Amino acid sequence: MDKIVVKGGPALHGEVKASGAKNAALPILASSLLADGKSTYRNVPDLVDVSTMLKVLRTMGCGAERLSETAKDVCEVTVGAGITPEAPYELVKTMRASVLVLGPLVARYGRARVSLPGGCAIGARPIDQHLKGLKALGADITLTEGYVEARAERLRGATVNFDLITVTGTENVMMAAVLAKGRTVLENCAREPEVEELARVLNKMGARIEGGGTSVITIDGVDALHPVEHAILPDRIEAGTLLVAAAISGGDVLVKHAVPEHMEAVVLKLREAGCTVTTENGGVRCKAPQTLRPVDVTTTEHPGFPTDMQAQLMVLLSVAQGTSVISEHIFENRFMHVAELHRMGADITIQGPTAVVKGVPKLSGAPVMATDLRASASLILAGLRAEGRTDVQRVYHLDRGYERLELKLRSLGADIQRMKA
Ligand code: EPU
Repeated sequence: MDKIVVKGGPALHGEVKASGAKNAALPILASSLLADGKSTYRNVPDLVDVSTMLKVLRTMGCGAERLSETAKDVCEVTVGAGITPEAPYELVKTMRASVLVLGPLVARYGRARVSLPGGCAIGARPIDQHLKGLKALGADITLTEGYVEARAERLRGATVNFDLITVTGTENVMMAAVLAKGRTVLENCAREPEVEELARVLNKMGARIEGGGTSVITIDGVDALHPVEHAILPDRIEAGTLLVAAAISGGDVLVKHAVPEHMEAVVLKLREAGCTVTTENGGVRCKAPQTLRPVDVTTTEHPGFPTDMQAQLMVLLSVAQGTSVISEHIFENRFMHVAELHRMGADITIQGPTAVVKGVPKLSGAPVMATDLRASASLILAGLRAEGRTDVQRVYHLDRGYERLELKLRSLGADIQRMKA
């Protein structure tokens, strides 16, 4: 098992490229199931979660491969006859987003059997809204032996009003509705750029979707879709993490390909903290201030401040001059990094869904343990600033969602390496 070793100190400088977005790649790969033939995707990040989705597709009988070393960002998915519309527990338990095959499978094959994802480190994360949407479209849903079974002759368009805003729920039901008979109206949808991107890809495949990226999505069902070629949009969370790396190390970094419109809430908070954030050369630059200021932040659905950047911003604020208040409104258990940050000298108190972060003059390096994907990134960010050496264990969490973060940080001047734990 690997660990990441960071020696704090160097200010990061230079340019780095954002990779393709994990949370766009996963539903888009799943959407391949909606059409026979070969779909080709570029700018697909080389991540464990992407490999897991390719494995899920292969298990069902699709061809699903990343191309050679020279075109590593390209994935091809081929769908033909003989698909087994089933996602087994062994894979779903390693990645909840596997549940994204449910909508496409029931829409296309009239039948799906997908393991019900359990809870995870950041919260219970039920999928009741996915199921509510599919039921409204006429799917017959049963839960047996830990699996969701969905059946339908052909789905029928319907109006679905989600009880809460869910990203993959919106995506799953949208993918189901594209092949339903008639019009579907989805209300109270997630507005994340990744949902908009999925709608764009489905439309390229021949779907008729309006309103992707807004809270009401209208879908006129079609009889069949065709495969697609598409380049995945840049990862706004990876980009945001790299901007925080610049800020916390006292540096100045341009994250190329970062899309400023996708990151407004993060940019705003970095500016409030005193950073100079500008848009230039097809990217976003962050220059650290002399002194970081405290900032209050509440995570909410897009376009609000993303929960996936909460841990990273918390680390930045842990060395600001003053007290910040961070409220987590999306997941009930997303402060697991706090206990590890305490070990590095941070002064953070948790009160229910709120963390009170009192800035300290310095952090000190320590052995720490990653508990989930974004928590692992935050511990590495803390290590960039800390005095001495930080060993971040359990980096398999990091590899699920960051494409060799240590190499990107090293290219900017960080003293960081991957080692055998
Ligand atoms: N929820 C329900 N019922 C549902 C669906 C969601 O109660 O049927 C609740 C969840 O428990 C949570 C809230 O609604 O409290 C929002 O969850 P959402 O469904 O939006 O999350 P998700 O779709 O499972 C995606 C991202 C997450 C990201 C969240 C929130 C993907 C593959 N995953 O998850 O990404 O944190 O949206 O923005 O798109 C990450 O990349 O580190 C990550 C966890």
